[in-house]
Amino acid sequence: MCGIIGYVGKSNAVPVLLDGLRRLEYRGYDSSGLAVMNTGQPIQTRKREGRIENLRQLLQTSPVEGSCGLSHTRWATHGAPTDANAHPHLDRSGRLALVHNGVIENYLKIRNRLEAEGHVFLSQTDSEVLAHLIGKHYEARTDETPQQRLVGAVREALVQVAGTYGIVVMHTDAPDFLVGSRLGSPLVVGLGKGENFLASDVSAIVAHTSDAIYLRDRDLVCLTESDFKIETVDGGLANFEVSRVDFTPEQAEMGDFPHFMLKEIFEQPETVENVFRGRLVDEEASAKLGGLNLTPQQLRDVERIVLVGCGTASHAAMVGEYLIESLARIPTEVEIASEFRYRNSPLDKNTLIFVLSQSGETIDTLAALREGQRKGHPVLGIVNAVGSTIPRESDGGSYLHCGPEIGVAATKSFTSQVTMLALLGLLFGRMRHLSMAEGQEILREMRALPDKIRSILAQSEAIRQIALKYIDAPGMLFLGRQFNYPTALEGALKMKEISYIFASGHASAELKHGIIALVSEKLPSVFIAPKDSIYDKNVSNIEEVKARKGPVIVVTSEDATEMAEIADDTIYVPKTIECLNPILSVVPLQLLSYHFAVARGCDVDKPRNLAKSVTVE
Ligand code: G6P
Repeated sequence: MCGIIGYVGKSNAVPVLLDGLRRLEYRGYDSSGLAVMNTGQPIQTRKREGRIENLRQLLQTSPVEGSCGLSHTRWATHGAPTDANAHPHLDRSGRLALVHNGVIENYLKIRNRLEAEGHVFLSQTDSEVLAHLIGKHYEARTDETPQQRLVGAVREALVQVAGTYGIVVMHTDAPDFLVGSRLGSPLVVGLGKGENFLASDVSAIVAHTSDAIYLRDRDLVCLTESDFKIETVDGGLANFEVSRVDFTPEQAEMGDFPHFMLKEIFEQPETVENVFRGRLVDEEASAKLGGLNLTPQQLRDVERIVLVGCGTASHAAMVGEYLIESLARIPTEVEIASEFRYRNSPLDKNTLIFVLSQSGETIDTLAALREGQRKGHPVLGIVNAVGSTIPRESDGGSYLHCGPEIGVAATKSFTSQVTMLALLGLLFGRMRHLSMAEGQEILREMRALPDKIRSILAQSEAIRQIALKYIDAPGMLFLGRQFNYPTALEGALKMKEISYIFASGHASAELKHGIIALVSEKLPSVFIAPKDSIYDKNVSNIEEVKARKGPVIVVTSEDATEMAEIADDTIYVPKTIECLNPILSVVPLQLLSYHFAVARGCDVDKPRNLAKSVTVE
């Protein structure tokens, strides 16, 4: 949510900043801007409402150049997406520039105070207030070098603000020098040769360096082209380490695919395998997850599990609830992170909390983690982005290793999260009631998933034809039961997010408790009805919709050939055991919404109003 990148080195910063912004555009895309400077020259800024392409065009007609700079792609919180509200923002001297990701909650109070002192603001943003506040403290400091003045001013300002921030600041008096700091919003330092970087996430800088330092909350970094210094905001010692980025620049590119979303859907055979590779234990018909940091006895003592996440991660968690309860018989609950953090959920002794997050930065999920820890419970993370805040603050956990997910609509992270939860169910199950034979069947079926996903992907064109048939549908219902009730929720979420039609997911049997009133010739229903223990029940629900002339698309098992006579359109997926079925059944739903949205001319990778990584409440 907002992306920032800063550069200091010998090259012209502009191409580096623009390329970084392009890679960060999934974080926010309503406006963007950059500021650059050269020694002894004023700061030059360029800002544009809309996509980064608009900024690129502006820079062609009105070029700037400088060896030190900062840039920003915005997801509006305070003030509409306009040129004036786009970052960077300057202080009143025009010699200090700042980019900010986060929310300054007490900005109005500070703004009123500064206005009373004669400051004039050019935007409605909370971020410009921070630029002025730092500038004011800079002006007040003397008897120091410009670098010391800037660092001191940043420190003085940051202790006055309430809220969250990831910032980068520069001043013309201190050429080739950047100051960055974070609280609640991510910021990573990239260490290059004769050049250094600051960015909201490593995908912005991976083309230039693989050496990164993930800053912690309240860290403050000073950066020159050849050196860096990290302390806490109040001048204390900071703990940090240099990490190697775990993916290549190519992995963050689209390759031959027209969209990141389609690329990521097609990566799922490999990404699902990445989750279980090296984690299956044949001799014990179980799984090993070393990062949990819990002894076998501690794992046996777990009496209750709470799974916490937002959006797609919460849907994966819901599959996890069915999975863990059926395999391990441990009472499991799903909590939406934004609710969990504010309610007084009773957590018994021996409750283990898992937070699920692709980005590892979602502020509500992070807050839920902290709330769980505050109440004295171990909180483990199931996260994709290595080095992100959640894995660093959690008591342990496991990475998904599914590579950068850039399409705003989550796809591969969902199937990876469900696969990870199946491993957990297997691990806990084998310590309790699950038999060796049942464990072996799960291992066998898990290993077969990648090929089965491949066979679904091979139907992409057939699924596109189905999408085209319903292209004028005003909305869509998604219905499934048991393990596939969350799949229905996820299918509906994908459709809403990227095509902007109304879609809702329900447990199939709930139809007759209200939803069936919506059924008409115009409204298609998508049923997830594999040939499992509740297949016949699903068929009855499908018949109920057909009886009311509702068009029906069914995702079912290969051997359910009779479905072709009942449904209007049928998508077949290979058979697997019930608990793993969502990993297969969700893939046609991802493809259906993708093709539907593309055919309707929607920007599937950057749907309106959404951002990939939600770092504000
Ligand atoms: C945003 C994204 C969703 C995502 C959710 C949770 O809303 O648009 O696609 O599922 O955040 O993100 P996380 O990174 O925590 O999994």
